[in-house]
Amino acid sequence: MSTTVSAPQIHSRVQEFIAKPRKMLIDGKWVEAASGKTFPTYSPATGEVMAQIAEGDHEDIDRAVKAARKAFDSGAWPEMPPSQRGRLIWKLGDLIEQRLEEFAQLESLDNGKPLAVARVADVPLAVDLFRYMAGWATKIEGNTIPISAGSKRAKYFAYTRREPIGVVGQIIPWNFPLLMAAWKLGPALATGCTVVLKPAEQTPLSALLLAELIIEAGFPDGVVNVVPGYGETAGAALAAHPDVDKIAFTGSTEVGKLILQAAAGNLKKVSLELGGKSPNLVFADAEMKSSISGAANAIFFNHGQCCCAGSRLYVEQDIFDDVVEGIAEHAKGIKLGHGFDPDTSMGPLVSQEQLNRVCSYLEAGLSEGAEAIVGGKRGEGQGYFVEPTVMVNTNPKMKVVREEIFGPVVVASPFSDIDKLVAEANQNEYGLAAGVWTTDISKAHRIAEKLRAGTVWINCYNVFDAALPFGGYKQSGWGREMGHEALELYTEVKAVCVAI
Ligand code: NAI
Ligand code: MG
Repeated sequence: MSTTVSAPQIHSRVQEFIAKPRKMLIDGKWVEAASGKTFPTYSPATGEVMAQIAEGDHEDIDRAVKAARKAFDSGAWPEMPPSQRGRLIWKLGDLIEQRLEEFAQLESLDNGKPLAVARVADVPLAVDLFRYMAGWATKIEGNTIPISAGSKRAKYFAYTRREPIGVVGQIIPWNFPLLMAAWKLGPALATGCTVVLKPAEQTPLSALLLAELIIEAGFPDGVVNVVPGYGETAGAALAAHPDVDKIAFTGSTEVGKLILQAAAGNLKKVSLELGGKSPNLVFADAEMKSSISGAANAIFFNHGQCCCAGSRLYVEQDIFDDVVEGIAEHAKGIKLGHGFDPDTSMGPLVSQEQLNRVCSYLEAGLSEGAEAIVGGKRGEGQGYFVEPTVMVNTNPKMKVVREEIFGPVVVASPFSDIDKLVAEANQNEYGLAAGVWTTDISKAHRIAEKLRAGTVWINCYNVFDAALPFGGYKQSGWGREMGHEALELYTEVKAVCVAI
């Protein structure tokens, strides 16, 4: 397995980008942390330090919030016509597309994912998201309301306005660093908000390149501020800041609950996109080949580091052995390696912490009596590699069946009764996504209706589109990303009533 990458393979601009410590963007200027501190970002494929980043904390967050407030209240941004706002967002999409290779390389180096995946998924999806949201800038509309109050002599005309919510704090994770920044920034900018974005400490690089393009696109100073740093310091300061009107978070359910508590101080609005333990249901009448490869991709895409990963697999009894065997074969064909190696189909996990977490789940599963028919342990090499794993002989009480693992580990169990299946699929504290594989269209729709999940994929999985709302039921979160649903979370409704 190759875990190193030779310098010539790295784009010269990327080499330059990571060679010197990166600063943070506040009020349109590149600045050091107030403390002067920096923090390292590691290569997940080798465990070595790759770059140093200015380490934001309370004071930097405070400066950034002040800049965002000023940009929201006065100057070019609040005066800007929506069509101009839309053009800036569209231009940002164009600039990202022009720098696709650099973004893909940064994403692969920082997160560990295969370069080929970042090229066709992370970066183009981010470009699409900005283009989709650019169109919405001119379509944030209110209503006229035929109210019943009044009389023949006292008449009223009433309407609503959708206004930007204000200064928004956005805290994002490391699994799709650029794309998560896009999901968050797109609707905030389309509606006219201003932003303080805190990227994940594991993967700050692509957000900092994005910040350069935000300046290049021509957004006024302070509209977007990017403050990298740790969650417990910079993140917590942003979530608690009394002058932030809304906080949008993607990450663990545990931290989501902390965000909620921190937000209580000034009752800022909150949207949360949290964990998942998504059920993937394969029926005996499913098309075998596509459901096997689909179920394998549902769990192994992005090394299982997807909040919507199809991590609980339920297969109808008659075909259980064949499907599980097919997925195990698929897993055996997955080549672990450095994201830059063209033969690599799965890179390392993002961090030592994540490696430890996933390995402790593997141990828990095996010690509780589950069997790994493929994988089940750490991969070779000094990077944070984990073997793609299929576990059988599980039961609903096991930790590996109940909790989010966030690694390439699927638990498979057979079913024979549909009603029991649906109950079991829903028997989890999460409700982010679900998959259904069957050629019986009526059954597919009936089951889709019963699943308590924000997304149901039928005969497909991991299909994302800027126009499709994404988010969770139950403890998978509050609110939706993408689609027009996301815009509602960035606007306040003002009712205006005029005596006429
Ligand atoms: P995390 O929830 O700790 O981190 C996500 C973001 O929140 C990062 O930017 C982090 O700096 C920030 N953060 C952490 N603590 C904070 C705090 N007290 N206040 C404000 N911000 C804070 O997630 P972590 O530790 O990286 O991963 C732990 C688990 O979370 C994973 O194993 C996985 O189960 C889940 N996760 C879910 C994601 C999703 O897409 N829904 C993404 C990443 C992790
Ligand atoms: Mg954490």
